[in-house]
Amino acid sequence: MNETPSNPSSPYGTLPPASVPASRRPVSLPRLREMHASGEKIVMLTAYDATFAAVADAAGVETILVGDSLGMVCQGLNSTVGVSLETMRYHTESVVRGLRRVQGTAWVIGDLPFGTYHESREQALRSAAVLMQAGAHMVKLEGGGWTAETVRFLVERGIPVCAHLGLTPQTVHALGGYRVQGKGDDAAATLKRHAHELQDAGAAMLVLEMVPARLSAELTGELKRCATIGIGAGRGTAGQVLVMHDMLGVNLGKNPKFVRNFMEGASGVRDAIQAYVKAVKDGSFPVDDTHGW
Ligand code: KIV
Repeated sequence: MNETPSNPSSPYGTLPPASVPASRRPVSLPRLREMHASGEKIVMLTAYDATFAAVADAAGVETILVGDSLGMVCQGLNSTVGVSLETMRYHTESVVRGLRRVQGTAWVIGDLPFGTYHESREQALRSAAVLMQAGAHMVKLEGGGWTAETVRFLVERGIPVCAHLGLTPQTVHALGGYRVQGKGDDAAATLKRHAHELQDAGAAMLVLEMVPARLSAELTGELKRCATIGIGAGRGTAGQVLVMHDMLGVNLGKNPKFVRNFMEGASGVRDAIQAYVKAVKDGSFPVDDTHGW
């Protein structure tokens, strides 16, 4: 006997029926592009496990970044350099399982850790495949123009890519610390050139970390096919991202200047994340466009 799929529009019976309200449909790349085009701010937050991913999803976070920042906040490392691909796979799978348990809708980005995409495009593809097979919808990688060829290679093979410029924590030793990037005309011009190269290579998103607000706002205006996501990069980006532990005020070290503790005045974690979502959407976070730089 033939089995009738629960949803006739899908051969696998797994897609939500058309009657599911837009807010409960899985966030997709076309949806993110629509948000970017219409000027609706994109909310991104890190999560590393099933429970917090489910809470973030319920609070309205659209894109969950399984960031290699987990090396610092979960593993107690001094930097993200020591994070392995296996660790990223484990946490990506945990996040995806948590979202499936609650029929979550968030778009999941798996961070490619240090040394797993540096050698060749083929190495990057193998590493990206591990995170995609763990359930990620997109991979993120750090670095300027030298990554553009890799980005193009992945995108051509059906892997959406989020790039990352400015302060790139995997190169903290070469940068001489966690410092603002893109200051001064030459540095700003180089960062802009790299951003355009990454957009041309097909990156759909670009994290801009610790970059002067004016530079990130200018770039946001220029990049029509790549949504900028700021962290310590002012208010002018297409979206914002924070490390969850930072915005919940449970960072082991000192919180970066640009972070707001959303637990202040909140009745719980979900409430705090909801406040973050609302503040990004209505443009009230970040307030300080300069962060002192
Ligand atoms: O690893 C991470 O959490 C990140 C964000 C800080 C953007 O890359």
